Amino acid sequence: MSNIAVIGTQWGDEGKGKIIDLLAERFDIIARFQGGHNAGHTVCLGNQKYILHLIPTGILHPEKICVIGNGVVVDITALINEIEELKKKGVVINDNLLISQRAHIIMPYHRLMDRYREEARGAKRIGTTGRGIGPAYENKMARSGICAGDLMNEKVLIDKVAANIEEINHVLEKVYSQPRIDPGAIEAEILEQAESVKGYITDTSLFINNALDHGKSLLMEGAQGTMLDIDHGTYPYVTSSNCVASNACTGLGIGISRVDGVMGVIKAYTTRVGNGPFPTELTDKSGQILQEKGNEYGATTGRRRRCGWFDGVVARYAIRINGVHTLALTKLDVMDTLAKINVCQGYKWKGKIFSDLPYDPTVLAEGEPVYKELDGWLASTSDLTEYNRLPQKAKDYIKYIEDMFETPICLISTGSEREKTIWVKGSPLDNWLMIP
Ligand code: IMP
Ligand code: MG
Repeated sequence: MSNIAVIGTQWGDEGKGKIIDLLAERFDIIARFQGGHNAGHTVCLGNQKYILHLIPTGILHPEKICVIGNGVVVDITALINEIEELKKKGVVINDNLLISQRAHIIMPYHRLMDRYREEARGAKRIGTTGRGIGPAYENKMARSGICAGDLMNEKVLIDKVAANIEEINHVLEKVYSQPRIDPGAIEAEILEQAESVKGYITDTSLFINNALDHGKSLLMEGAQGTMLDIDHGTYPYVTSSNCVASNACTGLGIGISRVDGVMGVIKAYTTRVGNGPFPTELTDKSGQILQEKGNEYGATTGRRRRCGWFDGVVARYAIRINGVHTLALTKLDVMDTLAKINVCQGYKWKGKIFSDLPYDPTVLAEGEPVYKELDGWLASTSDLTEYNRLPQKAKDYIKYIEDMFETPICLISTGSEREKTIWVKGSPLDNWLMIP
């Protein structure tokens, strides 16, 4: 069996949750390597809907081990709540969940800083999920962050929290004219919470590497998407982690030689939540159809997602940055009623065409998409599970996307449930999963 990274090729919300849930049964370990509870991975099983934020999607498969890697930032309150919510729905969580001792903890003051920073940015605000993700990663990079492993040592924990709060109080008071926070209350809370999560914390790099040495397989679950990556996304309108496939190694403590394949999840159109450039954004009827039919509301914040046409510039870039071997195309059925479908080939700005993603935020903001217009299929693809039953024009759309990037499509999702998927024969996925 192979070890596969599954990542988002757009601005997140490509439908990774469904794809990972679908693949999870074939792997032994499912691991998150970045981000935090800003993510929202939706899985529909029967008439039950699960939204996972921090816990790997594999948790819905009782016999699998789920790992929250060192690259993730963990809000303990959110973790405890998510565990409780899942348990209420009958999901078993005990020693099937492991948290890296090197994962950083999101503290209540990170949430405060996230909010005050956003308010101070005014019109230039990023539109974060407000969950303290950015400030927690800042603390990590500033070398003053609190690791999950610190929860095991009361003295170290309290010293670190106290030092952090001293600095934060200075910033709160002097920069944001806000009241100081009381270290005592936060220390008491974290000590109490530590007790309920200590049992999950371990050396997850050691665990994964040992398991791989013994022939177990690993599914690396990306969160957010390439265009939200801190290095490669539409900076500064990005999240604070590396969402790209290569970070699966750093974020889990495994060598690059362990990764056998990269699957990019790509939606048949594009969405974005939060602010920042979005060249193919639609503000007309077509955008409204995608928004409504695709039920494009943020799984974490409930915000309405911005919608637009498929952006070939973004896809080409994501395939390159991640070294994508194969694509899983999602939400094809959302486009069933569109008579004409546009695919962006490049951005035109001051007479020049950019077919490779430009860095310049001005080009991204002002560039006009150059479209290739394709015919819609005007027939239902909902729930289809066989490639041959797709309408010819839907096949043409899929083929057009494959040819554009010379990257094969391995899965086509035609509905939110696991079963509503077309497995395309002869793709790299067959080899990875050893499907004859
Ligand atoms: P943060 O990750 O909360 O700091 O938010 C930074 C940007 O990333 C904002 O535009 C968010 O809307 C976006 N973002 C963060 N997580 C997700 C996600 O899981 N899906 C889509 N957008 C996200
Ligand atoms: Mg999401």
